[in-house]
Amino acid sequence: MDDGEYAIITNDGYITRNIRDGRPVQKKIMLIDWDAEMSRKGGFPHYMLKEIYEQSETVKKAMAIGDDGIKSLAKGMIKANRAYVTGIGTTFYAAQIGQYYFASEAALSVPAVSSDEFLENFPLTKDDFVLAVSQSGETYDTLRLVREAKARKAKTAAIVNVVGSTLSRLVDQAVMQGSGPEISVISTKAAVAQMIALIRVSLEAGVLTGNLTNSAKRQKVAQLNSLPALISDFLNEYSGLFHTIAEKHATSHNWLFMGRGRYYPIALETALKVKEVAYLHAEGMPAGFLKHGALALVDDNLKSMMFVPTEAEKELFRMTMSSVEEIKARGGKLIAFHFSKSLRGSKLFDDQVLLPACPPLVSPIIALLAGQLFSYFLATTLGRNVDKPRSLAKSVTVA
Ligand code: G6P
Repeated sequence: MDDGEYAIITNDGYITRNIRDGRPVQKKIMLIDWDAEMSRKGGFPHYMLKEIYEQSETVKKAMAIGDDGIKSLAKGMIKANRAYVTGIGTTFYAAQIGQYYFASEAALSVPAVSSDEFLENFPLTKDDFVLAVSQSGETYDTLRLVREAKARKAKTAAIVNVVGSTLSRLVDQAVMQGSGPEISVISTKAAVAQMIALIRVSLEAGVLTGNLTNSAKRQKVAQLNSLPALISDFLNEYSGLFHTIAEKHATSHNWLFMGRGRYYPIALETALKVKEVAYLHAEGMPAGFLKHGALALVDDNLKSMMFVPTEAEKELFRMTMSSVEEIKARGGKLIAFHFSKSLRGSKLFDDQVLLPACPPLVSPIIALLAGQLFSYFLATTLGRNVDKPRSLAKSVTVA
């Protein structure tokens, strides 16, 4: 329908009229070949892609979480004798991102521990604080940990998506991330929203520990607020490119995803996505491990993917580029996702994507979106059942 027109739908059909004078307007009928399922997917071929595209909105929602909730998580973390952040699967990688930001923004050591590895391996007493991250709020390992933490009288909190979930009712403080239903078994939008919430907690904690001034915090919050626009531009402009690159490389069956520092969880998460949705052998590894033995794997049968930091992350950038050179010196096949115009056309890479310029606070998120698109298009190229991959459930509620 054009502007200035409206349609009335009745049992017998429809009529389109001009808003000003009510005059009927003749419209050409166009049949859209959608079934009910497709319309629920909003025209996207899969929920996974739809939810990747919803991330601009879910980041906005994560930025709209009340300051009180975020501040109180930061306070809980600082007051505790030991503070931990936990989750499992993709949410564990969100927790790991939190660990890096708590260190960089607040100078706090908050280990990220996978919830299934926690109770038998880490000390936990009444003076400790456990921040659990979960999309469903029903995951067995995370609930088991939180129940035991409560039994030991530790303080518990959660960043969780599903309202009314067991986790949200169990913890002392639940912060709802408000990402809306995530239908695809593969988690995308919920995990990114959790990362944003954790970065916000790290900024609050940074002010409380004196690591950040109020004005530095405000500047960083402004960078987070500019992320939704960056994300929608990025998705619209880059999707086709990732489709092409994924098609080109879908015949590779062995993948090594690497990053350093905050890009290491991004490499891990991308490798997990490639495993779970494309069913390819994919490993995530800190790039620094190459010289500790992993270089032995680099040959024609292995494809490496490097997440290169922004040049503003000086030392991290330099160290990552030295790992790139190690791979090249072995004649390895290497794809890079990077942010440096100066690397455009570099012979160091067999393929590359120059990601949009952005501040280092948010660049790992853009790198993650690149990993999501890449794994999605690998999976579709290989004809996988994207929204219901084999061997995976949306919520793992059993031991
Ligand atoms: C399963 C899902 C993953 C999810 C993980 C943790 O493995 O397939 O997508 O990341 O559980 O789930 P949670 O609901 O606790 O975030």
